Amino acid sequence: MKSVSSAPGKVILLGEHFIVYGGKAVLCAIDRRIRAESELDDSGRIRIESSLGKADVDINANLVEVDSALRPVVFIAKKTLAEKSPVSGIRISITADFPSGVGLGSSSACCVAVASSVLGLFGSHSREQTLQLAIEAERTIFENTSGADCNVCTYGGIIEYQRHGATERIQFEPGFTLVVADSKMTHSTSDVVSRVKRYKDANPAIFSLLCSQEEGLIEEAIAALRENNLAVVGSKMSQNQKFLEQIGVSNETLRSMIRAVDGVAYGAKLTGAGDGGCIIALTDGTNNSASIESLRRENFEVFSVSVDTEGLQHKIVQ
Ligand code: MEV
Repeated sequence: MKSVSSAPGKVILLGEHFIVYGGKAVLCAIDRRIRAESELDDSGRIRIESSLGKADVDINANLVEVDSALRPVVFIAKKTLAEKSPVSGIRISITADFPSGVGLGSSSACCVAVASSVLGLFGSHSREQTLQLAIEAERTIFENTSGADCNVCTYGGIIEYQRHGATERIQFEPGFTLVVADSKMTHSTSDVVSRVKRYKDANPAIFSLLCSQEEGLIEEAIAALRENNLAVVGSKMSQNQKFLEQIGVSNETLRSMIRAVDGVAYGAKLTGAGDGGCIIALTDGTNNSASIESLRRENFEVFSVSVDTEGLQHKIVQ
């Protein structure tokens, strides 16, 4: 019996980094997925195959000895087997249809898909149970995660997320497409978050002002999103980019990608931790091709994504 799950990647429309300090963020699941397939065996080992690398470790292996890319996966397997099936081993295979380490939620989608796939070997499991295990797993490599990414990868759609607060699903017209351009510069979310903390500690008054400005901007953007007013949502995204510039998570490559769609897309910004990774540009049928063209002309790798409304999917294959 194989337990097969998949979870969508994500982009952050607004609010990354500020969310870590109690602000709000608007996240959007995208139609690119990570799939995880699990199967029990009696090897006493955890064997993982994935584009992030391979692992073959004893079921009692010490987590700190596992490469960080696969540590959350090993954590999920160890914890679940210890609770439910102490004598077994497990094989997990992971495939992705989007790049990792570029701000599109590969780590969170991987945690969510693997948590669901492994829990699914032992019977039915709720999305909430999966989400909690996924966040716990992600904390093995990124202690201070807000949990926002795992949340949207679990539930799909567009959400307004507040750390330790309520998560609200935003009803929207599926009238927009996001153009994603990849800087090809990978980053460590945890390192960038630590850098922002240093900025915040050195500039408490400025950071606090930015947090409140970001909050106002998000309220206006959500109202505009509900009305499908893309011009306003786009202008809020561009404003958000200015705040991200100020806290030092942008760079010249990201700025040049954003410049390429200036006046073409409704708005553009980096998405996720920044310092590399991807930018997103808000478009619809009137400016999607032109935005893609503008970025390609500058030799950036570009693709379009739409909102995923399904979230986590799971099935058992006999
Ligand atoms: C990373 O995708 C988003 C950050 O806000 C970190 C987090 O929310 O955990 C930078």
